[in-house]
Amino acid sequence: MAVCEILKMGDPRLLRVAQKVGQFDTDALHLLVTDLLDTMRAANGAGLAAPQIGVDLQVVIFGSEERNPRYPDRPLVPRTVLVNPTITPLGEDQESDWEGCLSVPGLRGVVPRWARIRYTGWDAFGDPIDRTVDGFHARVVQHECDHLWGKLYPMRMRDFSQFGFTEILFPGIAAAEDD
Ligand code: NI
Repeated sequence: MAVCEILKMGDPRLLRVAQKVGQFDTDALHLLVTDLLDTMRAANGAGLAAPQIGVDLQVVIFGSEERNPRYPDRPLVPRTVLVNPTITPLGEDQESDWEGCLSVPGLRGVVPRWARIRYTGWDAFGDPIDRTVDGFHARVVQHECDHLWGKLYPMRMRDFSQFGFTEILFPGIAAAEDD
């Protein structure tokens, strides 16, 4: 069990394009996944990418086995370990919604994302993943995979009038941490 420090916006390691994982089902890869899970759980996050704990590899985790008490109305996204992902938008539709990020603590912003995507990749054992998803699930995948391309959500925003401090925007969840 290792809860790692989460890098914050401004750290140049968050701006790198991460390296592809070359070997699956290794002790090092499983250890990385454990660290990501422990760190995401400790922060009560919806997802986490390896670059956020300073690891320059294309590994993200997201989803949960149970509902996040901070987001009781959100659809459940299955707990997923995704390695070397690719994302293909399906159609032209985009949707805008609020996002937060553990690397951008205390803030929320409205971010446009593809409404429907196909994503592919592998789990830590090298088993292929191929899913077509929409809505919140699609948003989470795009947010987490963006960390692998060196993109933080403010870099995707178009309207900075919809950007602010969580405690001001959403007083009801002032005590919550960010995802
Ligand atoms: Ni993030």
